[in-house]
Amino acid sequence: MKKFNILVVGGGSTWTPGLLKSMCVRQESFPINQLTMLDTDADRQKVIGDFANVLFNEEYPDIKFQYTTDKQIAFNQELDFVFVQMRTGGFKMREQDEKIPLSLGVIGQETCGPGGFAYGLRSIKDMIELVHDVRKYNKEAWILNYTNPAAIVADALKRVFPDDTHILNICDQPENLLRSYGRLLDRDPRSFDPVYFGLNHFGWFTHLYDETGYDLLSELRDKILDGGFRPVDFEQRDKSWLETYAMVEQMVKDFPEYLPNTYLQYYLYPDKVLNKLDPDFTRSNEVMAGREKRVFNECKRVAEAGTAKDSSVVHNDAHGEFIIIVAESIAYNRGDHFVVILENNGIVENLPKDAMIEVAASLTKQGPRPYAVGEIPTFYKGLIEGQFAYEKLTVEAFLEGSYQKALQALTLNRTIVSAGKAREVLDALIKANKDYWPTLT
Ligand code: NAD
Ligand code: G6P
Ligand code: MN
Repeated sequence: MKKFNILVVGGGSTWTPGLLKSMCVRQESFPINQLTMLDTDADRQKVIGDFANVLFNEEYPDIKFQYTTDKQIAFNQELDFVFVQMRTGGFKMREQDEKIPLSLGVIGQETCGPGGFAYGLRSIKDMIELVHDVRKYNKEAWILNYTNPAAIVADALKRVFPDDTHILNICDQPENLLRSYGRLLDRDPRSFDPVYFGLNHFGWFTHLYDETGYDLLSELRDKILDGGFRPVDFEQRDKSWLETYAMVEQMVKDFPEYLPNTYLQYYLYPDKVLNKLDPDFTRSNEVMAGREKRVFNECKRVAEAGTAKDSSVVHNDAHGEFIIIVAESIAYNRGDHFVVILENNGIVENLPKDAMIEVAASLTKQGPRPYAVGEIPTFYKGLIEGQFAYEKLTVEAFLEGSYQKALQALTLNRTIVSAGKAREVLDALIKANKDYWPTLT
């Protein structure tokens, strides 16, 4: 059986221990020969790398593992898959993305609204560089990308690398939702055959077929309306995530047709969500005080103790497992179906062809083969077209260095609406991002 060579970019990510655990759990179904982790931050990389050595020693003794900050070592080797999860500017800049808009009275969020816009303009540059770096040595390696904001990154990469068929942008949120539906319905989420459409962090499930072809959607909707909605792993989630999932009930009450992605709360109820956000303690603060601290302290403890056997942070979560089962389906030409991000080209008939949309697709060696969605109703079409125009203008603002397009993008965003407010937010974000963004003129 072929063993794969994998590179993880952003090896110092808070999600890496979970990913490494998933690699251990799936070593029979996805055997790895060589695993390399690359990060720009040597300190973060070392903590996770030392932890990995202990974990693999116990659970994956035949894996060849190295971690590095040296691009030559990382890219100049034969690779089958590159898993990407980088955060340009780190949590410090995420904090700015969240707090600057909030200080001006609009939503501050990692991937939605002006926060996602700011993060997008930072991510694009590094992601373009990453693809160039990979392709210098590996024309065929699959680049599976988690890096956010995935909608904007996907759109930018498609424009800069239009002929590259081996880049796939993915998001674990539809997968998290499917697993949450599974727990609520007491069913195996892998048995679901979902129909989904939208943009990343901006989509809806329209059907959820079980293995007999029966559509579970209405049963699921009734359950949510009856008893609310929680994430599959609610025991491990912070308060803000529980509140986010709880908002699904409200969305389903107002728009019962389909089941919404949790991120739609920011666009459908900006006023309500804004009232709940604390401008002095945002999600990045919660992550830095919570997940980041927990993960890094635990990795250090494990490295010192020399065993990961009793480790709490190491679980095979949706995030870690999803990227591996996606890779398996491609590598073994299995054609399993997943919700992924790809170019529309008529999948949703009444949306622009060049939109990078999120839909269910079967994944083979040739990449995603999407399932047709057909026409979508006016309400959803209207919402998506506004958001797509915002995303497109954001990417063009980056590529052309255009202040005007940046201003148009933010004016279109539902979390802002007012052009005056958009200019105020944009000017503040330009200042905060001067070390990262291209000059906008
Ligand atoms: P994090 O800051 O803990 O991890 C990111 C790591 O990337 C850091 O160690 C950082 O030093 C490193 N990095 C930054 N720029 C880099 C570059 N150019 N090359 C190599 N490494 C670089 O952040 P996190 O919360 O663990 O998230 C990691 C990424 O994954 C973010 O982009 C986040 O938005 C994304 N994410 C996406 C999904 C999804 O479903 N699409 C889910 C979770 C996280
Ligand atoms: C979900 C989304 C990701 C996002 C993450 C943020 O998994 O799909 O795109 O990055 O949540 O989680 P955090 O816990 O960092 O706020
Ligand atoms: Mn996501």
